[in-house]
Amino acid sequence: MPREKRAILVTSALPYANGPIHLGHLVEYIQTDIWARFQRARGHECHYVCADDAHGTPIMLRARQEGITPEELIERVGREHRADFADFHIAFDHYGNTHSEENRRLVTAIYEAAREQGHIERRVIRQAYDPEAGMFLPDRFIRGECPRCGAPDQYGDSCEVCGATYAPTDLKNAVSVISGARPVLKESEHLFFKLSHFEGMLRDWTRSGPVQPEIAHKLDEWFEAGLTDWDISRDAPYFGFEIPDAPGKYFYVWMDAPVGYMASFRQLCDRAGIDFDRFWGRDATTELHHFIGKDIAYFHTLFWPAMLGVGGFRRPTRVHCHGFLTVNGQKMSKSRGTFIQARTYLEHLDPEYLRYYFAAKLGPGIDDIDLNLDDFRSRVNADLVGKLVNIASRCAGFISKRFDGRLAGALPDPDLYETFVRAGEEIADLYERREFGHAMREIMALADLANQYIDEQKPWVRIKDPETVPSVQGIATQGLNLFRVLLVYLQPVLPRLAERACGFLRLPPQRWDDVAEPLLDHVIERFRPLMTRIEEKQTEALLAASREALAPSAAPSAGATEPAGPLAAEPIAEEIEFADFAKVDLRVARIAAAEHVAGADKLLRLTLDLGGETRNVFAGIKSAYDPQDLVGRLTVMVANLKPRKMRFGVSEGMVLAAGPGGKDLYLLSPDDGAEPGMRVK
Ligand code: MSP
Ligand code: ZN
Repeated sequence: MPREKRAILVTSALPYANGPIHLGHLVEYIQTDIWARFQRARGHECHYVCADDAHGTPIMLRARQEGITPEELIERVGREHRADFADFHIAFDHYGNTHSEENRRLVTAIYEAAREQGHIERRVIRQAYDPEAGMFLPDRFIRGECPRCGAPDQYGDSCEVCGATYAPTDLKNAVSVISGARPVLKESEHLFFKLSHFEGMLRDWTRSGPVQPEIAHKLDEWFEAGLTDWDISRDAPYFGFEIPDAPGKYFYVWMDAPVGYMASFRQLCDRAGIDFDRFWGRDATTELHHFIGKDIAYFHTLFWPAMLGVGGFRRPTRVHCHGFLTVNGQKMSKSRGTFIQARTYLEHLDPEYLRYYFAAKLGPGIDDIDLNLDDFRSRVNADLVGKLVNIASRCAGFISKRFDGRLAGALPDPDLYETFVRAGEEIADLYERREFGHAMREIMALADLANQYIDEQKPWVRIKDPETVPSVQGIATQGLNLFRVLLVYLQPVLPRLAERACGFLRLPPQRWDDVAEPLLDHVIERFRPLMTRIEEKQTEALLAASREALAPSAAPSAGATEPAGPLAAEPIAEEIEFADFAKVDLRVARIAAAEHVAGADKLLRLTLDLGGETRNVFAGIKSAYDPQDLVGRLTVMVANLKPRKMRFGVSEGMVLAAGPGGKDLYLLSPDDGAEPGMRVK
C-alpha cells in the first residue's frame, strides 16, 4: 500500500558567524541531515535549510579586531562553514545568513504586527556601559571578582569557580573586556516583547505534543516561574537591523535569528519555485521540524511560537532537542586537545566514521553524548569494516572471478531475504522517531545474520569441488543482495559509502522501497575496498593537531602543578645542530600596543614593532600581565614563524616567555641599548 506523501521543512540551529564549526555543532547537523535524508529516501518532499547567525556584539567586535567590516567577516566565515558542512555531507537545500533583505523584511513585519497588536512596551533601563569604548556591555564582556567566593577574572553573569549567578553590577573591581575601563551605569530606552500575553496559547501549544517529555517538563517550570518581558532591542553600536521606529536601536540578535529560518527558506523558494505560504501560512498542513541543542530550547519553545503567531504564521510541528557532546567523558577542552574543529577532523579522518558513530549514539532524548576515541575506533572498525563491508568482500570475488561478474537468476534463501525486507518498516519507524542508535543496532544484527549465512554455506569450500561450484553463484548472490538491503537502510547515515556501493553493484541511487525486488541475473563491477579501518595513530594525530590548532603562543598554558624546580619540570631537550638553531630568526621587538581579546581567556593581542615593520601576535600571557604595563617594553620574538590562523585572527610570530604559566610567567627582555629589529644570536 503506497505511503502518504508528506511535505516537510527541516531546520538546524543557525551557527554563529564568529567561529569555526566544531564536533559539538556536528552532533546537530549530522542528526538533522540523517533525518532529512531518511525522509527523502522514503519518497517524501523534504527541504532542509539553515544559515549563519550573523548579528550581535561578538561578531561586530571580532570584525573590528581583524580590521575588516562585519560584512566581510560573515562572508568569509560563511564560506568556511559551508565548506565544512559540505565535506561532512550535510545536504542543505539552502544555506544563507541572517543579514539578508529577506530577513530584514520578515523580522520588521513581525515586529510591526506585535506593536500594532499591543505586545511591545518601551521603558528605560540602567545598564553597564564602557565609557572608553562608548558602548553598552553585554554581561559576557564584563569581568571581575566573584561577589561570593572572590575568584578573580569571572564573567559578568556567573562564576565559573563557585557557580554563583549575579548581576554584572555585583562584580568587584569590574572591568570591560573591550577597553579595560571600569564600567559605569547608564540609562537607555529599550523595547520589550510582552511574552506573558501569550501564556495561554503557549500552554495549549505545549500540550499538543511538539516537544519531548523532558522539554515539556522544563516548560512547566518556566510557566510556573512566570513569563517575563523580553528585551528585544540593543543600542548602537551594534551589528544587526535597525528598528524602523527607534533610530539608533537595533533588533537583538535572538529576535532576527529564528526568523532566519524563514528568510533562508524564502531564498530557496525564489530559486526553486516552491510555494512559501504552503509551509509558513497560518493554516499550513505541511510539517515544520526544528532541530536544536537543549541550551536554546527557551528561544524555540516560547519566544519563537509567540512571534510566529503574532506575525500570522504557522507554529512548528516539532522542536527536537539534543544533548551536548563531550569528548572522552569531559567537556570539550582546548588544553586537552579535545576541542576538535570540523576542519581538523577532516584532515585526519573520513567524515562517515563520525556520522556513523554519532548515529550509533543518538537517541530521541536530551542526554549528552560522549565521543570516546577508543570506543569510536573499535565501534567503526567492528561494525562498518568488520561486519558490513565484509559481507560484500566475502562474496564479490567469486562472482567476478568465476561467474563473469554476473549474479545468479534466483536466491537460494528467499526467506532470509524477506526477513531483511520486512525489517525495513521497523527500522524506518526508528529513524522517524530519531531512535538512530536503536536503528543502527537492528541493522548490525541483520549484518550478523548475513555473515552467519556465509559462514554456514562455506562458499570457499564449495568453490574447490567442481560439483558444488555452481551453488557458489547463488550463495554469493544471496550475500550481495543482503548487503544491498543494508546499504539502503544505512544510506541516510553513510551517503558516500552507499554511492560507492551502488557503483560497485551498477545501480542507480536507491530509494527505501527499491529493496522489495532482489537484484538477479545482473552484472556487477569488480570489488574494490569500500572502507578502511581507523588506526590508532590517526585519532592520536587528530588530538595532537587539535592541541596545535589552538595553542596560543610559546608561553605555556596555565594549570601546571607545583614543580620541584624549573629543570625538573622541564628537562633539557635533545641536543641539536647549530644549523637547526640558526633557522630560528629571533628579533628584538618593541611592544607598540597591547590589548585584551574579547572572548579569549588567556590571550593578549600584541602589536610588535620590528623597526620597519609591525606584527600582530597573540600571546597567552594574559594571566601574568596587564596590557598597559607592556606597552613600550622591549622583548624577543620568533620573527620567521609561519603565520598561524587562530580563533581570534592571524598570529604573525611568537614572543618568548619563561615559566610554568598562570601568574608565573616572565617575558624575555633584552638589556638597555637593544633596538627593535636587531637579530638575537
Ligand atoms: N546562533 C545560535 C542559534 C540560533 S537558531 C535561531 C547558536 N549558535 S551556536 O553556534 O552556538 O550553536 C549552534 C547549535 O549547535 C545549537 O543548537 C547548539 O546547541 C549546538 N551546539 C553547540 N555546541 C554544542 C556541543 N558541544 N554539543 C552539541 N551541540 C552543540 O546557539
Ligand atoms: Zn565564585
